[in-house]
Amino acid sequence: MVAEREGGDVKAVVVYESLWGNTAAIARAIAEGIGEGAVALSTSEAAAERMAGADLVVAGAPLLGFSLPTEQMRESIRSQPQGKQPDLSSPSMRSWLEALPAASGRGAAFETRIRWSPGSAVKTILAGLEKAGYGTGGTADRFIVTGRYGPLKDGELQRARAWGEMLGRA
Ligand SMILES: Cc1cc2nc3c(=O)[nH]c(=O)nc-3n(C[C@H](O)[C@H](O)[C@H](O)COP(=O)(O)O)c2cc1C
Repeated sequence: MVAEREGGDVKAVVVYESLWGNTAAIARAIAEGIGEGAVALSTSEAAAERMAGADLVVAGAPLLGFSLPTEQMRESIRSQPQGKQPDLSSPSMRSWLEALPAASGRGAAFETRIRWSPGSAVKTILAGLEKAGYGTGGTADRFIVTGRYGPLKDGELQRARAWGEMLGRA
């Protein structure tokens, strides 16, 4: 495992599940904050070979039905479309985590959600990253949307970029 790339850049992968684009936008802002060497990838783009040798993996998903989206929740959204059209073309974060090869980098998790909701997606993501061998130290953040399908609350993209900067420096 290479700890640092030339110029001190870490190889970082920010992986996201996103049905309506909010989590994808936060993922891109986190990757920008981490800087050179960081990419934001959907669960379909983040195949095992793209994860090889990553020093830092940051994984994020929306909170849906008070938890990390289940296959059942995704199927119910697929079969009963209402409101904004979802993008269900990429695998769930749950299935991505299950297929994640053993590794030894650092990990962190994030979720997008409504402010007042109970439940947590990040706990399940952190557990999945740790099971694969990533050291997380419980590092996680939550980013807020103002309605059922978004948009993100003002300032959340800037906060995500700053969080990425912090993760890249750590
Ligand atoms: C069917 C559905 C269920 C949701 N359930 C929750 C929930 O339990 N808690 C919450 O905080 N937000 C909930 N939300 C809001 C989403 O978490 C929020 O819109 C999220 O940013 C979506 O992420 P995405 O745009 O990346 O798919 C729900 C939204 C939908 C459409």
